[in-house]
Amino acid sequence: MSETFDLLVIGGGPAGYVAAIRASQLGLQTACVEKESALGGTCLRVGCIPSKALLESSEWVVQARKHFQNHGITFTDLQVDLAQMMERKDKVVNGLTRGIDGLLKKNKITRFLGHAKIQGPGKVEVVSGNNSQVIQAKSVLIATGSQPSSLPGIDLDGDRIGTSTEALAYPEVPSHLVVIGAGYIGLELGSVWARLGAKVTVVEYLNRILPGMDDEIADEAKKLFTRQGLDFRLEHRVLSVKTEGNQAVVHCEDRDPLTADRVLVAVGRKPNTENLGLDSVGIQTDRQGRIPVNDRFETEIPGFYAIGDVIRGPMLAHKAEEEGVACAEFLAGKVGHVDYNCIPGVCYTHPEIACVGQTEEQLKEAGIEYRKGVFPFKANGRAQALGDTDGKVKVLADAATDRILGVHIIGPRAGDLIAEAATAMTFGASAEDIARASHAHPTLAEVLKEAALAVDGRALHA
Ligand code: NAI
Repeated sequence: MSETFDLLVIGGGPAGYVAAIRASQLGLQTACVEKESALGGTCLRVGCIPSKALLESSEWVVQARKHFQNHGITFTDLQVDLAQMMERKDKVVNGLTRGIDGLLKKNKITRFLGHAKIQGPGKVEVVSGNNSQVIQAKSVLIATGSQPSSLPGIDLDGDRIGTSTEALAYPEVPSHLVVIGAGYIGLELGSVWARLGAKVTVVEYLNRILPGMDDEIADEAKKLFTRQGLDFRLEHRVLSVKTEGNQAVVHCEDRDPLTADRVLVAVGRKPNTENLGLDSVGIQTDRQGRIPVNDRFETEIPGFYAIGDVIRGPMLAHKAEEEGVACAEFLAGKVGHVDYNCIPGVCYTHPEIACVGQTEEQLKEAGIEYRKGVFPFKANGRAQALGDTDGKVKVLADAATDRILGVHIIGPRAGDLIAEAATAMTFGASAEDIARASHAHPTLAEVLKEAALAVDGRALHA
């Protein structure tokens, strides 16, 4: 035990490594412990990035099969080399994780490889194989992320029955994939394998897909995904999944069983707060296993902080990054801030679905009077030129003040378009502000401008 760091960050995912960089920028002597040899956490290694690589590759397959001919491009004998697709995905991931290594070095952050366990105030043991060392720090930041959760009757065997981790690396295209859960993960990875030729059945407990998203947008998504071949079984409560020979059988309450060669369980994620030594200092988790923190990310125990998937709020990489920055700023004696109402959510299907702020249902429930502007992509020149015209933008603005309360998009590049809405909301903009801002022509962004104009009933191309 030699030096004492100002800050020891446990976890090298988007929450942890970003907090470490910001802390170091602000002059704190910072260290980061990560148990995996690759930095970047779930997001980089087995989440956001590999899934986006596969979504991109598989969408090219659909474009080649179904849409190239519209552009006058024809060819014979289209082949899909799954091994090459996976290799490309791994290359993208490896390049980015090495990039994080470089960033930690550049910022002079000391890196420890091993499993961290809190031993007492300011003391963390790092175990790697047979080696163990104790690190001392004035502040300890817990950023250990989350892992896929499962259901009681499911035996995850990591083969036929697995989570997103396995579904990012199936060795062959399943003939029938049953996806349990119509949330972000189920729809993104269900889309990948459907595009590559699998029959995909999505089993969902609720009577809708994408819980939490605006109803109108989720309804449209369901229509479009059904057209793409996804078979939705709503109001199906999965009780158990068992392997039978080479098959997996999904049993739902009061429904016929479904037989598949692969089952993807995507029913949410749970925080990684076990086996961290929280008890040793008296940090208690809530019923969902999360660590309670205040607005400064302090736990109940002085010197211990937590951010990202282990605390309240959506399990999103960019939310975790914002918390990492804010927490580091508090630690350095500055004032950090996260505006939780302006954190966008994006589902990277085709079309993409993106939202920020409140849904129409939330506004109704809260009794907030609002005005609504909707504009379809099919009336947009760029969308027509792209041949990508499904979807719409919906802007919800306060009826009295015109302040934007929520923006919901389903359509091409919705994930990129939502940034304008999030920025506008962060500045407290009105629908009129977006409506009066010049948007380059022809761009998809004009659909947001038109939807903002539509709030006041004056869309120009409707
Ligand atoms: P989710 O919570 O979004 O969806 C899980 C779905 O499973 C829900 O619709 C739920 O009703 C259903 N379900 C639960 N129990 C069931 C049962 N017994 N039978 C049938 N259906 C059942 O969880 P998901 O998709 O696993 O994602 C986990 C987290 O990761 C989320 O917080 C999400 O925000 C995040 N994530 C974000 C992504 C993005 O930003 N693009 C991509 C992937 C994940």
